[in-house]
Amino acid sequence: MMKRYSFMDDYSEGAHPKILKALQDNNFQQQLGYGNDDFCLKAANLIRQTIAAPGADVHFVSGGTQANLLVISASLRPYEAVIAVKTAHIAVHETGAIEFTGHKIIELDTADGKLTPDIIKPTLIEHCDEHMVVPKMVYISNSTEMGTIYTKKDLEELHRFCLENDLLLYMDGARLAASLVAREQDLAFEDIKDLVDVLYIGGTKNGALLGEAIVIFNEKLKIKFRYSMKQKGALLAKGRIFGIQFAELFRGNMYLDIASHTDKMAGKLAEGIRNSGYEFLAEPQTNILLPIFPRNIITKLKQKFLFHEWRNIDSDNVCIRLVTSWATEEKHIDNLIAII
Ligand SMILES: Cc1ncc(COP(=O)(O)O)c(C=O)c1O
Repeated sequence: MMKRYSFMDDYSEGAHPKILKALQDNNFQQQLGYGNDDFCLKAANLIRQTIAAPGADVHFVSGGTQANLLVISASLRPYEAVIAVKTAHIAVHETGAIEFTGHKIIELDTADGKLTPDIIKPTLIEHCDEHMVVPKMVYISNSTEMGTIYTKKDLEELHRFCLENDLLLYMDGARLAASLVAREQDLAFEDIKDLVDVLYIGGTKNGALLGEAIVIFNEKLKIKFRYSMKQKGALLAKGRIFGIQFAELFRGNMYLDIASHTDKMAGKLAEGIRNSGYEFLAEPQTNILLPIFPRNIITKLKQKFLFHEWRNIDSDNVCIRLVTSWATEEKHIDNLIAII
């Protein structure tokens, strides 16, 4: 059988060639371990400069689940809970990692994968005494699991609401790059520091071999964070691997340039699908597309492509998930569109 091309995710390929080269070029340099190496220090500084937050703490970890469980468990008291959408990565795809740290996830329904103050408000009223957990943190991902984005206005509204209600706001930026370069996006790197308490900037899904950068703005959340990392096995002796990669990604504009390609490919794919007469479960905004196809089209697509089946719409139609990456070539998009 012909090898099928994968639109399953944005980490099907290895690393961007420039990152591999940087790893190779610095291979023989001797360095301190556990994130105290020159590369991590440089990468953290470049990130602080890019996001205009000179006082932020930056820590590198290997994956998104690890970042989420670390940030959430280090920020909350034992009886406090985190609010997220039902489709959130922490709610669906982290094998109960957050719950395993002892914190309940309060899952809320949304049509587009985004939280708003109006969606959160009833939960705060409902959780009224010591027989229930205390909602203390709001978790969002930007872009969301449905490929939608939080704009500056969305984030400002959530930020204001969180301040008024003594809630921490945490942004999972596994796909922050794809969100920041989205056509309809007006949020910039430098806006984020004033709007969230803590963030992680994704590398794994944007050209790195692996790695995420946790960025802490809230002074209280900074305290002894490295102790939490070490205790949970996240402080790697070879932290240099993250430093080298993030220093490369943030040396110039590479981090966003990579995502521009990713989103451009997704835009072309979305246009082709729409022009062929099909609709989407959520409006395509970044590199995750959720088109709805009849089953016979899906059978044909499966012969040449790999992708996730996201949701059954009805007996005839299924929503699938197509994801482009930094390495997606146009010819694969043309092939898919030709089939539909
Ligand atoms: C929004 C989001 N957060 C976190 C993760 C978790 O990443 P990992 O699989 O590296 O733990 C993912 C992975 O797909 C994700 O999409």
